[in-house]
Amino acid sequence: MTRNIADIRRDYEGGRLDETQLPDHPLALFDDWLALALDAEGEDGNAMTLATVDSQGRPHARVVLLKAADEQGLVFYSNYHSHKGSELANVPYAALVFWWPSLSRQVRVEGPVEQVGEKESDAYFASRPRASQLGAWVATQSVVIPDRNWLEEREARFEQAYEGQEIPRPVHWGGYRLVPEMIEFWQGQPSRLHDRIRFERRDDHWQRFRLAP
Ligand SMILES: Cc1cc2nc3c(=O)[nH]c(=O)nc-3n(C[C@H](O)[C@H](O)[C@H](O)COP(=O)(O)O)c2cc1C
Repeated sequence: MTRNIADIRRDYEGGRLDETQLPDHPLALFDDWLALALDAEGEDGNAMTLATVDSQGRPHARVVLLKAADEQGLVFYSNYHSHKGSELANVPYAALVFWWPSLSRQVRVEGPVEQVGEKESDAYFASRPRASQLGAWVATQSVVIPDRNWLEEREARFEQAYEGQEIPRPVHWGGYRLVPEMIEFWQGQPSRLHDRIRFERRDDHWQRFRLAP
């Protein structure tokens, strides 16, 4: 390793998170933070780490893209037969983490996960560029394949099969919605005295706590 990562130290700076100024619903705050993050981080601002657990309770994490967020939940799209798809079928619960370095902000979201309705997946699939639509057919996500050629040949076959036609959404590809039960906002501050405000859903309302950093 060329650089000693143990010696890297950064003093985080950001506006204070003052609970008296925050909205009652955490999704309103999330919306504000996401809008700023998309400006600050460019097109990667909607990238988030998704952690799921398998049937033995072992966690697995990977990055996916947030495609919608409202009071119903946070939506991402994937292959229902992928590793994450099998994990969510077994244990329909997940955690999401956003890290926006230029704002010194982290958001954690946890809750149950459900598949979005077919119409919603169809509408999003139809909005994707044709190459991405084809990719949903070509990529048998998470399956071991012999080499890259295998992928390219498969792509050529699907391209031919759908030439001049609309590409339908594969039934094994669609959206997931994480319905938040917990959302935590972390704002980096100097001297490691970071602000952490956590919202927990209690039936029909949200309770707010400040946590030690
Ligand atoms: C920036 C970025 C964005 C990604 N977005 C998605 C996505 O929206 N959906 C998806 O299925 N995989 C996405 N991936 C790929 C996943 O990280 C992962 O490799 C893939 O979903 C297979 O994961 P699994 O085998 O655990 O199911 C993205 C990867 C990166 C680095």
